[in-house]
Amino acid sequence: MAMIYVLDKDVEVYAREGEQILFALWDNRVTITSICGGNMSCGTCNIEIMEGMENVNPPSDDEKRLLSRIKRQGPNVRLACQCVPTGDVAIRIVPE
Ligand code: FES
Repeated sequence: MAMIYVLDKDVEVYAREGEQILFALWDNRVTITSICGGNMSCGTCNIEIMEGMENVNPPSDDEKRLLSRIKRQGPNVRLACQCVPTGDVAIRIVPE
């Protein structure tokens, strides 16, 4: 299990192996916006990886394109519905 520390809410949750951050947050009742339900079409679930960037899967080209379209690019910006932690991370949920 990977620990996800949510800086802006001061809570930590755990993701099962292979589980996206979005669903780990929802499983633990941490509020994060998602219009599309995790289908990578809305871009509302963007987060910043503040620590542990080496512990997440790399973004796909489709994720990069969506982040570009919503103008939320940056080395540590990800979509929570596409980001799978393999080790501990600290994140910040980006306000809309
Ligand atoms: S939940 Fe819509 S893009 Fe992630």
